[in-house]
Amino acid sequence: MSKVLFVTSECWPLIKTGGLADISSSLPLALQNKGEDVLTLLPAYRGVKKHFKPLRNIATINSDYFDETIELLVGSISSTGQNICLLDAPSLFDREGGPYKDSHKQDWDDNAYRFALLCRVACEIAMGRTMPDWKPDVVHCNDWQTGLIPALLSLEANPPASIFTIHNIAYQGIYMRHIFDPLKLPESWWHYEALEFHGNFSFLKGGIVFSNRVATVSPTYAEEIKNSDKGCGLDGLLNFRATELSGILNGVDYSSWDPKSDKYIKHPYDQRTLKNKRLNKTVLQKEMGLNNDGKLPVIGVVSRFAHQKGIDLVIEQIRRFSHEPVQWAILGSGDTNIEEELEALAEQFPDKVGIKTGYDEGLAHRIEAGADIFLMPSRYEPCGLNQMYSLRYGTVPVVCKTGGLADTVIDAADGALATGFLIAQADADEVEIGLKRALSAYQNKALWLKLRRRGMAQEFSWQESAAAYLRLYEEAMVGNGSLDANPASREERVVKEARASGRKHQTPEMS
Ligand code: ADP
Ligand code: GLC
Repeated sequence: MSKVLFVTSECWPLIKTGGLADISSSLPLALQNKGEDVLTLLPAYRGVKKHFKPLRNIATINSDYFDETIELLVGSISSTGQNICLLDAPSLFDREGGPYKDSHKQDWDDNAYRFALLCRVACEIAMGRTMPDWKPDVVHCNDWQTGLIPALLSLEANPPASIFTIHNIAYQGIYMRHIFDPLKLPESWWHYEALEFHGNFSFLKGGIVFSNRVATVSPTYAEEIKNSDKGCGLDGLLNFRATELSGILNGVDYSSWDPKSDKYIKHPYDQRTLKNKRLNKTVLQKEMGLNNDGKLPVIGVVSRFAHQKGIDLVIEQIRRFSHEPVQWAILGSGDTNIEEELEALAEQFPDKVGIKTGYDEGLAHRIEAGADIFLMPSRYEPCGLNQMYSLRYGTVPVVCKTGGLADTVIDAADGALATGFLIAQADADEVEIGLKRALSAYQNKALWLKLRRRGMAQEFSWQESAAAYLRLYEEAMVGNGSLDANPASREERVVKEARASGRKHQTPEMS
């Protein structure tokens, strides 16, 4: 059993802006279920404490890098049982707005400082200085907000091993020199072999340079980011670390995302009761203000409205298909211009285009359950979760052939294995071709049923991926010298240690 400190900037159901939150819940839980001793650290943003009963203060930190007292609060999330440590620093995190942006969609101007603090506190926990009876074997860091952790650990004697998972290489936490100085980091890190990045500095680069192992969230994305068109300037570094870089496909938490037991949908169904899906379609059409016509195919989209996701291409398709018998159910938020354009289209075609802007967990589930087709014309997609959810909901995915989308959807042309439609590249003509192929298959009842049944039978649970992370943890421990490379002597050591201590180590008691 390893002790793992999992550090993240979001975690469902506490706080979520995208897939990172889903993964920060489902992976630690999968590891917990395998018997690992996992503690997830994240900031105590406004409103998160209500998810626990009760929370226990386990440490108070006074330091020379933050004027106020920081409290560490530990508890288990009531609804999921995940073991959490909250970094409570109210002046930095208890704010109205999102984890990274204020209510006017502007980045908090002290983001570098806020997440550097998260990294410093993670390092204190990792070194056993806040909870002397709990020192992790591995620190699992996620995305740029945690990138300084491996760097800070490199300054310590006998640090735990570190893993850095890149969920999206396009978000790097890049800041200018005048932001670097107040963070009180070693001057030697202002160097191209450390944090310096084209005259600025990058949190993400710190994670890649200093961690024992680097992972990303699908095998194809692991290859793509080694090339200049998707590597966002870090492809050279990733090639340099290629033997320590792996792509581990994200898993799905089927206890939240399965139409058989989904608490957000009115009519549960599975492969045998697939006809009930139609009832969910009626519910969705009503909720989105669409004409109640069971025959019309509904195309669903749930997405951040960002360039990555190709939402501009969705808008173009709504125009191109405006005289065709299709309906659209779209949920998302982000770019204000995109939100306004979509709202204008919904006004222009009220019974064909349903749009809801903002964040709505329940509607995201109801779109998966009620739509016939799910469209993801992403320009790049490290993993993508919605296409995997769509498969389980019998909602046929039409996705670009990139990253995790290419790893999880099998094109209709592949006959007996097919589960959806792959778009060759993210441009309007190709997306139109992909949609037309799907719409024509929709007319062929037997083929459509086969596609849906096959999709529903796909299994992207965490079983295998969590095991792959455990193997990576071991490799990282061997890499940083904290674990013997020879499994036989390792086993011997574990037995000896167990005998000597006479007890198992436990996460700081959760109440
Ligand atoms: P990304 O993390 O790049 O946004 P993913 O496909 O990995 O993309 O994950 C997106 C997650 O966020 C999914 O769980 C999806 O259902 C959810 N999501 C995205 N936008 C919204 C929204 N507006 N309301 C509710 N859930 C959303
Ligand atoms: C990022 C990626 C997305 C991935 C998610 C979880 O937000 O954009 O593709 O599924 O992280 O790993």
